[in-house]
Amino acid sequence: MKSRYHTARRWLIFWTLFIGIGAVAGATGMFVDTTGKAMGMDAMLPYFQKLPFADILFRDFLFSGFALLIVNGLTNLTASVFLFLKKKQGVLLGGIFGVTLMLWICIQFYMFPLNFMSTSYFFFGLFQAITGYAAWVFEKQENFKIDLDDYPHVGSNPKRLVVFFSRMGYVKKQAYIEAERTGAEVYEVISTEKTDGTGGFWWCGRYAMHRWTMPIELVSIDLTKYDHVTICSPIWAFSLSAPIRSFCKEASGKIKEADYVLLHFTKGKYENVCREMDELLHIRHTACKNVCCRMGKTNES
Ligand SMILES: Cc1cc2nc3c(=O)[nH]c(=O)nc-3n(C[C@H](O)[C@H](O)[C@H](O)COP(=O)(O)O)c2cc1C
Repeated sequence: MKSRYHTARRWLIFWTLFIGIGAVAGATGMFVDTTGKAMGMDAMLPYFQKLPFADILFRDFLFSGFALLIVNGLTNLTASVFLFLKKKQGVLLGGIFGVTLMLWICIQFYMFPLNFMSTSYFFFGLFQAITGYAAWVFEKQENFKIDLDDYPHVGSNPKRLVVFFSRMGYVKKQAYIEAERTGAEVYEVISTEKTDGTGGFWWCGRYAMHRWTMPIELVSIDLTKYDHVTICSPIWAFSLSAPIRSFCKEASGKIKEADYVLLHFTKGKYENVCREMDELLHIRHTACKNVCCRMGKTNES
């Protein structure tokens, strides 16, 4: 599968090089002609007089050149080197320097009248910061792994079953933890719609917003033979995930007893989801566990 982390990392390299090289070029121009005349910037110098210590620091562009070189130039170029070397610090620094650029532009907003250049660069900083954050999240998501050898007791109790649907593997891990604890067999609900990647996220979002069921592969297991079933689902748009909604509809009347495990990004208890599952299955659940899961780190809520 295409790595979203590598795509975001490449975009971050673009931003750090674009901002870094631009800043070094600008600073060089200021050093070559500190009056700013050569770059047509001398008319801007009076605006700098609003800043503290202007009579010492902003009589020409020498100090501004150093500030630009250090704050936006060398910093971004350093981040780009880390990114080329695929070092983790590159993503962190690239994102932080996007924020630094926005702060730098805030000073310009204070000094200059509203202008196209400053506004554009503020947005460049914003895009850089967002790209850095996205790369950081994607890296964590793609490194999340589950090793089934860690769950040797799964399937040792033929009277219990754990059912789950999972896009990124977070619910899958909780399902296996649960099955390892009780010895239950495991059944994965598989959607026939696209659920993976960025496109899959938005496609799932559409189903979630409408509270629709989603087409799933035929439920190939005899649910009536289990004394107890644990159903594990992610929360989608404050509600039950669409594939588990489809499963519950198909399983209606076939499950004797069930408890639920619900995973979500936020803290809280989704009692509405337990009620919906109860209504679909025509039973009353024995227990409901809410798990707050952020990039694989879990906390019961
Ligand atoms: C379409 C969609 C909608 C979501 N809506 C919510 C939500 O309303 N509240 C929440 O806390 N998490 C929400 N999430 C986050 C998931 O519930 C959470 O990341 C869960 O751990 C996903 O597990 P999985 O990747 O194993 O399927 C949503 C995720 C998706 C894909």
